[in-house]
Amino acid sequence: PAQPWTGQPIVLIGLMGVGKSTVGRRLAARLRLPFVDADVEIEGAAGMTIAEIFDRFGEPYFRDGERRVIARLVDGTPKVIATGGGAFLQDETRQLILEQSIAVWLDAPPAVLAERVSRRDTRPLLRGRNPLQVLTELARVRNPIYALAPYRVASQKAPHEATVSRIMEAIG
Ligand code: S3P
Repeated sequence: PAQPWTGQPIVLIGLMGVGKSTVGRRLAARLRLPFVDADVEIEGAAGMTIAEIFDRFGEPYFRDGERRVIARLVDGTPKVIATGGGAFLQDETRQLILEQSIAVWLDAPPAVLAERVSRRDTRPLLRGRNPLQVLTELARVRNPIYALAPYRVASQKAPHEATVSRIMEAIG
């Protein structure tokens, strides 16, 4: 059985569709820690979906709320946090994550990610667009920044438990 985790929060970063929420929930269960999905927290705080926040208030407003929610979550108590794919791209949010948590980049090739997100995805950055094209471009721009995280783990499609084990081995 996994030892109870006694360190900083573990924050999962990486592109849409890589499995941050699914893997994060299972990692938390293995470590007997609480799991928090930052996107779900943002939706709860705003009382609307992320798509609605983007539509009504724009991306900068969403990024500001995202930073505040993550700042509240990295409070020094052990937990596993899944973040939205763009959180780590924001300078202030990234500094928070790097300073106050153990950041793990979950990585998979764009073709794999495109398979996992549906063509009718409601994510604002994918709506009505070709997922493979968008994810290929996002990977090109974002991967060098995700690489600033101290740990990088390949996200395997199935079983998720293999990815969870790799994370546990990586962060020791
Ligand atoms: C975003 C990813 C989404 C969500 C928002 C923006 C991004 O989260 O925060 O749609 O910029 O990559 P997931 O990575 O959980 O899909």
